[in-house]
Amino acid sequence: MSINDCQRIDLPKINDPRGNLTFIEGGKHVPFPIKRVFYLYDVPGGADRGGHALKNCHQFLIAMSGSFDVILDDGREKKRIQLNRSYYGLHLPPMVWREMDNFSSGAVCLALASECYSESDYYRDYAAFLAALKTSA
Ligand code: TYD
Repeated sequence: MSINDCQRIDLPKINDPRGNLTFIEGGKHVPFPIKRVFYLYDVPGGADRGGHALKNCHQFLIAMSGSFDVILDDGREKKRIQLNRSYYGLHLPPMVWREMDNFSSGAVCLALASECYSESDYYRDYAAFLAALKTSA
């Protein structure tokens, strides 16, 4: 995987003077069936989240409210992407190290995941992640 496989995906947006609406169908608007949904909220100023890579799980992150940055790292290159709208998100395939910071006040990060939670799917140690990339190369 490379950070170039981490694509921003625009979601359908129904504009309405009563308030806009966006919807997501697994396998259609995000490129995997959705098995799990979780969200980050009440993130204190200056906090960092993430700091891991996943072995098999795809994720799709959306800034439901406010904004935050996602720093992507495939072991060769790094890229910082700001998410700040409810009508697009970022697809993170497996084996991409991600960190999240610069959360605005009141930011909410919605994450859609292709797998149920499993700690054994995580690389939480950066050196172990790099070693796994070398083994699979
Ligand atoms: P973690 O994935 O490290 O959070 P983040 O990447 O957003 O900083 O998860 C933090 C804790 O929450 C960790 O103890 C595992 C637990 N957790 C679950 O139990 N289920 C889940 O779906 C997720 C994402 C985390």
